[in-house]
Amino acid sequence: MRSVTDDGERPSGSTLFDRIGLLYTGDPAREEIHDAALVVEDGHVAWVGHAGSAPDADERIDVDGRCVIPGFVDSHAHLVFAGDRTAEFAARMTGRPYTAGGIRTTVSATRAASDAELVARTATLVAEMLAQGTTTVEIKSGYGLTVEDERRSLEIASGFTPETTYLGAHVVPPDVPSAEEYVRLVTGEMLKACAPHARWVDVFCERGAFDADQSGEILRAGMRAGLMPRVHANQLGPGPGVRLAAELDAASADHCTHLTDDDVSILSSSGVVATLLPGAEFSTRSPYPDARRLLDAGVTVALATDCNPGSSFTSSMPFCVALAVREMGMTPVEAIRAATHGGAEALRRGDVGTLRVGTRGDLVILDAPTYVHLAYRPGVPLVTQVWKEGRRLV
Ligand code: NIG
Ligand code: FE
Repeated sequence: MRSVTDDGERPSGSTLFDRIGLLYTGDPAREEIHDAALVVEDGHVAWVGHAGSAPDADERIDVDGRCVIPGFVDSHAHLVFAGDRTAEFAARMTGRPYTAGGIRTTVSATRAASDAELVARTATLVAEMLAQGTTTVEIKSGYGLTVEDERRSLEIASGFTPETTYLGAHVVPPDVPSAEEYVRLVTGEMLKACAPHARWVDVFCERGAFDADQSGEILRAGMRAGLMPRVHANQLGPGPGVRLAAELDAASADHCTHLTDDDVSILSSSGVVATLLPGAEFSTRSPYPDARRLLDAGVTVALATDCNPGSSFTSSMPFCVALAVREMGMTPVEAIRAATHGGAEALRRGDVGTLRVGTRGDLVILDAPTYVHLAYRPGVPLVTQVWKEGRRLV
């Protein structure tokens, strides 16, 4: 199975993508080019411009008027888990609210699973994502919640992506007697075991999970261990998550469903990306975050799937783009920007999410004349080809 693995193996030679009807580059300097062409050489974009003036290349792909976009950057996903929560979802659809209490069900199933089972399940989800155009994915731990189960979750995640996130602070597991004791573990022995396999540290800063002081302590400990912070913030109600994210110069505050005016101005005057996860609101029947309010305040917005078995069991960035346009007040171009360039900003990556000279040759050919069709034709499999570092994977 081909995956979104950064395996270092780069193709040599050049590929010309010719007769692109609409190229969405994600590059603010030149965001859209009609009748375009693009050359990828040795895994990176070597030339972007108008069809007809493109240089020769070893291979030519006739895009035949279709739309080309950068590979999606899914900057928030929880892929290492076992079991599912079908019954919880079905109960929710009869009116039961989402409380995040089901995380413990997934923790039990994940602890009971073998390494091989977890690897295989993660690979399946990563392959699903790739088939829907995702070429960069962040993967969190958070369903192990013991030193060894968190460590192995991150080791497994790092087999699929360099964007691994330590989320030992997802909830306090039932077998640990107090939150204080668990915070000690998360900031001590567990962090020590996990840090070598992680790039990021995250915390579920929410009533019923970790409060502002605990969250700050956990994130600061992670930062001292060399990890960069990101925060699950303001998902189920208003709270201190966004403020904490700004205080610590986190790359991203994720969810941002319940924001005060103060939270919005904090986001707009900081470098924190607001990562919106509409799959979660879809699946929990909660009100969607107000993307329009954030964009009008000048906040950088990312879109991601939050793929997990409880609140958002979708691996589809096109679905999230459609929801963002239909339900969250984003225009199609704002949504595609958030799903590519925005996701890259949320991961502090300049080499993905944009197609300009020097970035990675990660691109998607849509069977459509424009990316607008991602929202206009929801649920239709428009992703026809996926290229990563200049190699065709789908
Ligand atoms: O991002 N909110 C915390 N974590 C996940 C949900 C986890 C679950 O319900 O299993 C989220 O929505
Ligand atoms: Fe999440």
